[in-house]
Amino acid sequence: MKRIDKIISEQTHYTRTEIKKLISQKKVYANDELVKKPENKYDENNVSIKINGQEIEIRQFVYLLLNKPKGYISATEDATAKTVLELVPEKYKSRNLFPAGRLDKDTTGLMLITDDGEFAHNILSPRKHVKKTYEVTIDIPVTEEMVAGFKNGVQLNDGECKTAILEITGEYTAKVTLIEGRYHQIKRMFGCYGGKVTELNRIGMGKLELPNDIEYGKIREATEEELEKIKERE
Ligand code: URA
Repeated sequence: MKRIDKIISEQTHYTRTEIKKLISQKKVYANDELVKKPENKYDENNVSIKINGQEIEIRQFVYLLLNKPKGYISATEDATAKTVLELVPEKYKSRNLFPAGRLDKDTTGLMLITDDGEFAHNILSPRKHVKKTYEVTIDIPVTEEMVAGFKNGVQLNDGECKTAILEITGEYTAKVTLIEGRYHQIKRMFGCYGGKVTELNRIGMGKLELPNDIEYGKIREATEEELEKIKERE
């Protein structure tokens, strides 16, 4: 059970003060009965709320897909840098959204932003084996030695990486598939071979490829089908 002013403030753009006013103006109904006080409690999973005669949509969780541009950090707030949360449309801002996993400031591509902690854990934990696929450009030629090394597990200073798939797509370009997400992992993996990553773009999570209708820097809600695909492993 949750206070009605909290339920409304989480699900809509109304502030607590505005909600209080709407309630005092007799404009809020819950289960077709007038709400008299902001403190009144309801089951948020089983209540219908009308404001000015319009039913509000109540959702437990929100899932947004972002085609992350460069220059944004994967955090909810930062004193100086721009965060991916700044790209979230205003109507979702009342929710406790966070990026599910990190992409570096200069990395682009597919990112999930949600308020569902359990879903995020399930796609991020290496034990769940959800693949993350990246297009990479490096400053030296990609070699078969790197392909073999990635497969065997690159040794980083914080331990050996799990097996990764490196597919050569051009002299300086490759596709990398990982099932874990350590700090600067791909950059450090190529660093072991003296290579510097110059472009990094995530093109897939699980079985979901970055949908081509989501332009660079744009964000939209994920469909049920897309969420299912993200969770899929091999
Ligand atoms: N590996 C990196 O080095 N950076 C990213 O953003 C993602 C994977």
